[in-house]
Amino acid sequence: MPRQSDVLATDFLVKIADEFGTPVYIYHAEKIKTQYEKLQKAFHKANTRFFYACKALTNINILKYINSLGCGLDTVSIQEVQLGLKAGFDPKNIIFTPNCVDLQEIIAAKDLGVIINIDNLSILEQFGNKFGGSYPISIRLNPHIMAGGNFKISTGHIDSKFGISIHQMRHIERIVKSTKLKVTGLHMHTGSEIKDVDVFLRGVEIMFEMTQHFPDLESIDLGSGFKVAYQQGDPETDIDLLGKKLSDAFNSFAKNYEKPLQLWFEPGKYLVSQCGYFVVKANVIKQTTANVFVGVNSGFNHLIRPMFYDAFHLIRNISNPKGTERIYTVVGNICETDTFGWDRKINEVREGDYLVFYNAGAYGFEMSSNFNSRLKPAEVMVKDGKPFLIRKRDTLEDLLKNQIELA
Ligand SMILES: Cc1ncc(COP(=O)(O)O)c(C=O)c1O
Repeated sequence: MPRQSDVLATDFLVKIADEFGTPVYIYHAEKIKTQYEKLQKAFHKANTRFFYACKALTNINILKYINSLGCGLDTVSIQEVQLGLKAGFDPKNIIFTPNCVDLQEIIAAKDLGVIINIDNLSILEQFGNKFGGSYPISIRLNPHIMAGGNFKISTGHIDSKFGISIHQMRHIERIVKSTKLKVTGLHMHTGSEIKDVDVFLRGVEIMFEMTQHFPDLESIDLGSGFKVAYQQGDPETDIDLLGKKLSDAFNSFAKNYEKPLQLWFEPGKYLVSQCGYFVVKANVIKQTTANVFVGVNSGFNHLIRPMFYDAFHLIRNISNPKGTERIYTVVGNICETDTFGWDRKINEVREGDYLVFYNAGAYGFEMSSNFNSRLKPAEVMVKDGKPFLIRKRDTLEDLLKNQIELA
């Protein structure tokens, strides 16, 4: 849970829901700044740069805001690159770290001038054959570290599709040498929701070892995976401790490397999770033989994390914050099992009340869909204390927009 001072007041959330309707995603811009500044402070002793992993949330206004903070951008698709450029990011501040894309997409990103991370030997060779050393690249390595909140978000283990195995260094070297590729960066990302600081330290040690194969490095990118708390007592990555330990390790390594080196990170969740609130309306209270369900006007098509990752989001009744606490199972309206939270203690819920899901900024709207032909929610950004609509709720026309009705 975010600290009280960082949290938007519940009566303000009610006002926004009244004004813009529900379901609605609400993002608190200044909270993103707070998180960015915490990272900067934690790593101030090392030459560090942060690139926002925008897969977490790509609304153009959020991108513009993050650009205004001086943060870079981490992207995984050519469309994210294009959105980043549209939002005003300098291509030199955009990293492109795709997975399983074809050479054409990599070339398109190269033509836009962004930093390219290559994560497999096939593309490395094709890129090298075509461009040699004319366009420096980074290489995404797989360090074979099992880390992350659950298997779906663990990316650095031996069975993962991500990165080039550190045990394939001989292949990498052969390709780099024969095609004269210029490698200026090494990258790894072992997963999301890593609370153990030592995992990052193990990762960086592996990267240090790998640098011996690359004389032209300018950056070591450790990806991300900083964990935030989703409820009281939930462990978080201790950013200050991580900053201190990693900065010390990095500084003592970097002073012996032939060139000035920078340490890079690509935080997604850490920057935007806690800024987000998802407000829905209780449609029905349904008592069955075993449960009291609150059926809301949303579903996993809008917030998939509970069903997809078994993720916990704190749910509160903001329309009746002083009501007697009772136990409810909060479910969505999708025609499949669609549970947001089992047996939650929530202030008495009446039909028509607004419920809020906290920490909904990262991988919330971004993973939403129109399943069941439901409309995607609106998005609102709160900045300087004022709410701004930054995305209209879908309409039926949006559902039909790309469909071609045959005569
Ligand atoms: C390459 C890469 N960088 C950064 C991130 C962001 O991770 P997180 O949201 O845990 O900070 C991801 C998440 O999937 C990723 O794949």
